Formats: sequence, structure tokens, C-alpha cells
Amino acid sequence: MPVAKELSGFSDFERVTRFDDAEAQLCAIIAIHSTALGPAAGGCRFTRYPGFDEAAADAAALAHGMSRKNAMADLPLGGGKSVIRMPDGEFDRDRLMRAFGEAVDSLGGAYITAEDVGTGVADMQQIARATRFVAGLPKVGDHAGGDPSPWTGLGVFLSIRHVAGAELQRPLGELTVAVQGAGSVGANLCRRLSEAGATVLVADTNAEKLAALADLAGVEAVAPDKVLGIEADILAPCAMGGVLTPAVVDGLQVRAIAGAANNQIAGPEAGAALQRRGILYCPDFIINAGGIISVSAEYLGEDEDAVSRRVARIPERLAEVIGAAREQDVGPEIMADRMADERIAAAGTAAEAAGG
Ligand code: NAI
Repeated sequence: MPVAKELSGFSDFERVTRFDDAEAQLCAIIAIHSTALGPAAGGCRFTRYPGFDEAAADAAALAHGMSRKNAMADLPLGGGKSVIRMPDGEFDRDRLMRAFGEAVDSLGGAYITAEDVGTGVADMQQIARATRFVAGLPKVGDHAGGDPSPWTGLGVFLSIRHVAGAELQRPLGELTVAVQGAGSVGANLCRRLSEAGATVLVADTNAEKLAALADLAGVEAVAPDKVLGIEADILAPCAMGGVLTPAVVDGLQVRAIAGAANNQIAGPEAGAALQRRGILYCPDFIINAGGIISVSAEYLGEDEDAVSRRVARIPERLAEVIGAAREQDVGPEIMADRMADERIAAAGTAAEAAGG
């Protein structure tokens, strides 16, 4: 059983807990930002960090993001996230995941885990041997479940189609979309864009990922170091966060940005630069919620229709955020944070009132 230690210094969080199990080589952090709207849900990241503090800070930042994402997707879930530090050298992955499952279980359902960067369905199956507070398991019948990334791809695609029609006043078939990253979400997005008749300029550092898309109509591979500055109508960052630095924003040749990666804007200066240049930013956690919508439906025992209906509403939520941002003359990313924080605070106040 992993040894738990509460971490201090995370004042806006309900709890941030470190779990260690030397025999299983587990060192994990589970950050619970808020359970005001329901159990804290968010994936488990499995990667290397320079040190423990970096891992804890990442878990906390991601958990806060999940509170906002879940709140704005109308899910009955709070926000949490976990990270497992990848051990150096050899390790028994299944055993490590089972030990992590014990850590999740010890929180009694306050935190629900699923896949994130570095974890997959097989890991969730190991975790499920130790806890029932896990989703992202193989699909059974009509029930929601399985790989969430196609749903993320669909939500991003619908958002891009909305931006084309409502913001750029052009059908998607006449537009060029630059896609950074042809992984699970990016490849799905490229297929949908190709089917809709768009021209797609896609970059990936892994040539195999590009080869898999080579036969799609209207899809052309471009160099990874060119994609962020390429001339197109819309840019869809689908590789990693923090790509929109002030320097990158200066060089952008697009009118809008709509991608799946979390936290694409690298700080307020870059956000201000986007606003100044009149480039529309579609807040990542609004448009990439398809995956958590699927995971949440799976956990709640709902069917795939429920997932489809909720994902189809993503463009409405996007339009609401863009409209409010214009009214208040702030960037959509700032507006999305504000709206989410208001929802979480209102739920917290309602819970307190009910409790006391
Ligand atoms: P993935 O790991 O399957 O794909 C990422 C792809 O980006 C890989 O093919 C990789 O080779 C490529 N890549 C890495 N660095 C690159 C660079 N500098 N230039 C071009 N390509 C590069 O990840 P996935 O699942 O497709 O997720 C993509 C992004 O969306 C991630 O940031 C993830 O956190 C985020 N996201 C994913 C969700 C999901 O359902 N999978 C849900 C919400 C957010």
C-alpha cells in the first residue's frame, strides 16, 4: 500500500497528496483542485520530470485546468489530475500502475483517473484491478468508453467548422487549416477536415504519423519548424502546450487558432499579442473537452448518444465565450477562465449553503 503524505503550499486546492511505494517504484502526486461540482476527474500523466517540485506543480496546474474544463462542459465533475514520475531504469509497469490504483482507491472516490500523456488503456486496466474510480477502459456494447481521442478530435473539428462559418464567413471546404501534430487527436482531425473538403497542412516530428495520412485528399505534409508560421486560415495546435509564445504570435499568418493541445498560450503577453493582432483564439479547454465528456459518460454509465449530444454543444459554448469576450474586450482565453471560475465558485457556495 503506498504511503500518503499531504503536500502544503497549494492554497487554492482541496488537497494535493504524494504517494510513494518503494517496492512498486511508485512516486505519484494526485492533485484535487475542486470537488464543488462532483468528484475530481482528470487523467494520469506518466512522464519524467526534472524533480519532485516540477511534477507536483504540473499536477496542480493540470488539476486546476480540469476544474475549468469540466465546469464549462456542464459535467457533474470537479477537477483533479495525477502524475506518476517515470522511474529511471527498469521497472514493472503493471505493478506500478496497480500501486497507483491503490493510491487512487485510498481517496475513496474523491478523484477519478483516466488516460493522459504517457498512459493508455492497458494501464487503466491495471489500475482498475485496484480501484473502481477509473475510466478510459475498453468499450462495452453501446456504452461510452474506449479511446477518448476521437471525441476530442470531433469537438475540435466542430469548433473549426463553427469558426469558419460564423467568424470567417467561409465554408470549411474553401479554407486551409494548419495542424501541428498528427497523433491520436491530430490525425482524427485531419481525416475529418479532409472529408469536409478543407486543405490541410500537417506537421509531425514523427514521419510515420504523416505517412498514415498521405492518402487523404487535400492533406499535405509540412516541416515541423514551419507549421506555426505558415500561411493558412486556421492553426490547430495538436501536439503540446505552450507553443504560442510572443515570438510565435508575431510570426503567425492565420486568422484564428483552434486546436486540442492544453494551455497553448505561453503566458499573458502572448495572449495580449493575439488580441492586438486580431487573431481569434478558441480557448483550448472549451474545444478539447470531447475526451473528458466521453470519459465522464463512461464513468457515469451513459451511452455514446449522450457523448455525441454533449460534444455537439461545444461550438455553442465556444460562441458564448467569444461573444462575452468581445463584450468585455478581453481575450477569449481570459473570458473562458472567468466564466469557469464563476461556475465553480457558485457551485462551491451552493454546496456550503446546503451543508450549513
Ligand atoms: P499524441 O501523443 O497522440 O500526439 C501528439 C503528436 O504530436 C505526436 O504524433 C508527436 O509526434 C507530435 N509532435 C510532438 N512534437 C511535435 C512538434 N514539435 N511538431 C509537430 N508534431 C509534434 O497526443 P494526442 O492524444 O493526440 O493529444 C494531442 C494534444 O491534445 C496533447 O497536448 C494533449 O494533451 C491534448 N489533449 C488530448 C486529448 C485526448 O483526448 N487525447 C484531450 C484533451 C487534450
